[in-house]
Amino acid sequence: MAKNFFTRRQIQSKVKEQPAQRISSDYEGKEIFAAGILKGAVIFFADLVRSITVPLTFDFIIASSYKKIETTGYVNIYSDLREDITGKHVLLIEDIIDTGLTLKFLREKLLERNPESLRICVFLDKKERRIVDVPIDYIGFEIPDKFVVAYGLNCENKFRNLPYIAFFEP
Ligand code: IMP
Ligand code: MG
Repeated sequence: MAKNFFTRRQIQSKVKEQPAQRISSDYEGKEIFAAGILKGAVIFFADLVRSITVPLTFDFIIASSYKKIETTGYVNIYSDLREDITGKHVLLIEDIIDTGLTLKFLREKLLERNPESLRICVFLDKKERRIVDVPIDYIGFEIPDKFVVAYGLNCENKFRNLPYIAFFEP
């Protein structure tokens, strides 16, 4: 069913070396407000924030635009941030960017609340699939146009807990 793509070890060293170190140096002297997009980002989020060395607070948005393996283009917010982000350095954290619709929608929504800054960090980027333009500041891995699961990512809500990233082959 699933073929291993990135091992647990590759993921761990990637998170520390790429997004976390760059974020820590870019935000030197500032405080980050990390906003995680649930459910998918939960595992990456937990790894990432523990490797960031500048002061940080966090909160979550529960949002979804995905039905099975095809995007709907429609983003549903089930639960919004509970904290006011006005004047804060917001870092939006997502598991994967595919068409870009989810992040474009959420980015615009958060910008309306006047944060001091807003940057986006994704663990996986399926660049070939992009249909809308969204500025992504930090990326873990670029991946080909294949459906992946595990490390937070799901297919029909399954496989999120597996510690590696795998291609999903039904
Ligand atoms: P976008 O709005 O098309 O960029 O889709 C982003 C969302 O689709 C992500 O937050 C994931 O929840 C989901 N998604 C996109 N590609 C995959 C995949 O390969 N596996 C699992 N979920 C995916
Ligand atoms: Mg997601």
